[in-house]
Amino acid sequence: MRIRPFITLGIESSCDETGIGLYSSEQGLIAHQLFSQVEMHAQYGGVVPELASRDHIQRAIPLIKAVLSDANLKLSNISGVAYTAGPGLAGALLVGSSIAKSLAWSLRIPAIAVHHMEGHLLAPLLKEFRPKFPFVALLVSGGHTMLVDVKSIGEYKILGESLDDAVGEAFDKTAKILGLGYPGGPALAALAEQGDETRFKFPRPMTDRPGLDFSFSGLKTFARNTFAKYPNEKADIAKAFEVASTQTLMIKCRRAIEKTHYSTLVVAGGVSANQSLRQVLNQMGKKLDVEVFYPGQEFCTDNGAMIALAGHLRLTKGQSSVGNEIIIKPRWSLEELEAV
Ligand code: KG4
Ligand code: ZN
Repeated sequence: MRIRPFITLGIESSCDETGIGLYSSEQGLIAHQLFSQVEMHAQYGGVVPELASRDHIQRAIPLIKAVLSDANLKLSNISGVAYTAGPGLAGALLVGSSIAKSLAWSLRIPAIAVHHMEGHLLAPLLKEFRPKFPFVALLVSGGHTMLVDVKSIGEYKILGESLDDAVGEAFDKTAKILGLGYPGGPALAALAEQGDETRFKFPRPMTDRPGLDFSFSGLKTFARNTFAKYPNEKADIAKAFEVASTQTLMIKCRRAIEKTHYSTLVVAGGVSANQSLRQVLNQMGKKLDVEVFYPGQEFCTDNGAMIALAGHLRLTKGQSSVGNEIIIKPRWSLEELEAV
């Protein structure tokens, strides 16, 4: 008799994107869909948590149906459900968690709580050419900036993190200062392409002292002050900000590599979509003989595929979140996770 593949349904609803993915033990990622709420939040200049939760409620089930239909599967074909339990916005997390737990209960299959940042960290494993453990991970999103010593799945030690704004948040805030709208990261990166790198020099925060922590809020203030003085030089300011932040990230990655002696670097999270960052890190990788891995462009920012994969890797090793209570963890450290 042929053994059925294990199929994991992944549900992401931690912020302003509803993401659904289906991951199969035989075929890998078989379908995924995303609904972004960006347009809805743009008019307020940032994410409005209550609106985010309400929208997840409306989108999640139709998206699950659509993904199943894309894969030609029925609910009864699902073997387990993975859902983002944190960190993130409480109301938004409750939507995905409630749906996941209810589905698992009604289908009598296991459910597993997934850490959103573990989802990002493992997203490069969606590709065929995968990084090998151990590695250093640079996680750069709208909510977090972290360097992590990754020994294996679930064995994480945080080497350094941001003491104030996350780098994505600094991109967004700087973009807002320059009048580029929300979310500003990609818009700022696009404008920076036309900027002159030699016009302004921004500081590289916390690189003049030892350690692997970050601080990005000063860069945003630097941008605000420069813009007040030179209101007609937006592109050059965007460029100076991008160069300073990507160089800072590179300097800290180099330190983390020197400290761990690892020869692999994984870069993930929304800001890993940034082409200048990729260039700077690839150059560093070449010099140090370090292989650098990124998620596919569409899996850098939030998505359901990475949650399906992260949950799948745990469910297929027998892990699950038992009990019917719906538990969310708006604050949750990567270091608390169980090893696989
Ligand atoms: O990982 P993500 O989708 O959400 C969180 O988990 O926070 O990251 C979103 C962040 C936003 O701050 C967005 O501006 C930033 O990633 N981002 C970028 C780029 N694409 C997305 N920042 C710089 N350059 C980009 N190309
Ligand atoms: Zn994210």
